[in-house]
Amino acid sequence: MEFDQAYFDAGISRVGTDCEKWDGMIEETGDQDMIPMWVADMDFPSPPAIRQAMEGVLSWGTWGYTISGEKDAEALCAYWARRHGVQFEPGEVLMSPCVVTGMRVALRALTEEGDGVLINPPVYGPFFQSIKVNNRRVVESPLVRGEDGRFCMNLPEMEEKLASGEAKAFMMCSPHNPVGRCWSEEELAAVVNLCAKYDVPLICDEIHADFVFAPNRHVGILSIPGAAERTVMLCAASKTFNVAGLQQSSIVCKNPAMLEAVRSEMEAAGVRSGNAFALAATRAAYTDCDAWLDGLKAYLADNRDFAVKYIAENMPRVRVTPLDATYLMWLDCSALGMAQGELMEKIAAAHVKVTGGTFFGSQGEGFIRLNIGCPRAQLERALAQLAAVLG
Ligand SMILES: Cc1ncc(COP(=O)(O)O)c(C=O)c1O
Repeated sequence: MEFDQAYFDAGISRVGTDCEKWDGMIEETGDQDMIPMWVADMDFPSPPAIRQAMEGVLSWGTWGYTISGEKDAEALCAYWARRHGVQFEPGEVLMSPCVVTGMRVALRALTEEGDGVLINPPVYGPFFQSIKVNNRRVVESPLVRGEDGRFCMNLPEMEEKLASGEAKAFMMCSPHNPVGRCWSEEELAAVVNLCAKYDVPLICDEIHADFVFAPNRHVGILSIPGAAERTVMLCAASKTFNVAGLQQSSIVCKNPAMLEAVRSEMEAAGVRSGNAFALAATRAAYTDCDAWLDGLKAYLADNRDFAVKYIAENMPRVRVTPLDATYLMWLDCSALGMAQGELMEKIAAAHVKVTGGTFFGSQGEGFIRLNIGCPRAQLERALAQLAAVLG
């Protein structure tokens, strides 16, 4: 099968599949005509090899307790070595239901109640909640925007927060949702050096690693010298292959004591992973889906270029953040002079659903996040409707 433009143009109808993006939106708004450009999953079919793997499990006809472990971890290790040049071993991997689960158990294992945890807002909302529900404190070092519109970490400020003891751990998003940054090797090395200097653990969420567009490339944190002894890396096939509903992710840590601490936290909470469908699908994703992923990335890069051009021509007051990575566009609408509530109301009245910027922290005021992981025709319709209110 060719995973070309025609394949991705065809998309897939998701209404009636209990999906949050479409069915959840219709339930919430009652608006059957609204175009969902919000939740971070895609409106494409998952790869055929994943479907076949799940059909194989379906054909068993009985689904008792399942073996999980070695072969799942081996598929993950081989994938990261092949796609990202990052080496780790099956013994350095724990299986977990979701990336957010991994984030929370890592926070519990590696920090104490009351500790400050450094993050770089605007950032994926559950970073804040994961810290707060575990009685840790959010310590913010906001990203700063350069002349070219790209966001960077404020390393001197981050150092202050670590040096003063205000923050006892750093939780980073790489590539970064929602600002679409792929961090460079130099930036990642600076982060690792800071964490080493102040001897704090680094929790690195790499769920978007597969969506880095040329000429950039994803640099895995575990390939940075000095990262191995203090890092917990979180990853999943869920975003990449659109299988988030299966709830399967991985926790990777090369420091045996840290890995053990995370493992015992999972044990204490009874967090287990072993869904037969999810494991089979994830192994197939990591083994047999490279051609599908390459086709997808080419399609998404074209979607990005189309959207950038369309917005420049039709919504000149909306500033697009350059998108190195992810299928999530971070759009600055502040020049329109609307409060966040008004901005979201206008967009809803245009029958488009986007994620409001403040989901990512107060720094997101005046911004929206637009999910471009959909067939071009859907993107075109959503952009035309947005242009009617943001143009
Ligand atoms: C940065 C980031 N981390 C984690 C997640 C969620 O992952 P999971 O569903 O495995 O918890 C998302 C989903 O959008 C995300 O963008």
